[in-house]
Amino acid sequence: MRTTSRSPAGSDEGPGADGSAAWDAALYDRSFGFVSAFGTDMIDLLAPETGERIVDLGCGTGTLSAEIAARGAEVIGIDADAAMIERARARYPHLAFAHADGRDFAIEGEADAVFSNAALHWMKEEPARVIACVARALRPGGRFVAEMGAHRNVRIITDALYRALAEEGVPADAVDFPWYFPRTSRYVGLLEDGGFEVAHLHYFARPTPLDDCPNGLADWIAMFGRNFTDAAPPERVPAVIERTVALTRERLCPDGRWVTDYTRLRFVALRVTGE
Ligand code: BEZ
Repeated sequence: MRTTSRSPAGSDEGPGADGSAAWDAALYDRSFGFVSAFGTDMIDLLAPETGERIVDLGCGTGTLSAEIAARGAEVIGIDADAAMIERARARYPHLAFAHADGRDFAIEGEADAVFSNAALHWMKEEPARVIACVARALRPGGRFVAEMGAHRNVRIITDALYRALAEEGVPADAVDFPWYFPRTSRYVGLLEDGGFEVAHLHYFARPTPLDDCPNGLADWIAMFGRNFTDAAPPERVPAVIERTVALTRERLCPDGRWVTDYTRLRFVALRVTGE
């Protein structure tokens, strides 16, 4: 999932709509299923009702779309990565999925809710445009329920990647930082300017284990950290990954279990009536 650089739905970074390398959707499901697993309590926050129309923005391979549909809602899954959408359609042929950029999607009619789990941070460019698309898709009073990586997300990992690259002579500005991890105040401002009223907001640390990654953080970097490793000469990439692992091991894997330093912003915002 990228919508222009990697990621889940409508990102501007991640493999996908911009022609950059596609995600390995099967590997994503196999080793990074925690992304959806951590999103299941988001569905309680969404509280889908029978007959509601709900957009799953950045649906990836459709795991949470299917859970929302199982609660009786009509779901439209959207993702900017073609491989993710292809796999979502194969897994859930009875559901509707569309390949679209988060800054530029539209649905027929109006939705009661737009849901997004672990995808908005991949939509790095023009977050206000993403929010405008969400607002346009919703009926007045409709809800935008989302969780995204927030300020300081994976900072221990990215600091180590920058340091490992610097030791190889690669400057920080050679990296196209792939994510949007906003401060809470910044994102609330965008929501309010975009015609939303924030009804619920939670910024929190959520240490995230990599139990299904046989090579721990090295697998995480291989899946998500390509914008960093692509900045190094190809023959030095293994050394950069190895050094990053060494630099972070004490803090992220003190007892042999890799646990990454995720921070989240979770919110419910209501589309203001009449705007
Ligand atoms: C996240 O869900 O916060 C995330 C996932 C992959 C890369 C960076 C952040």
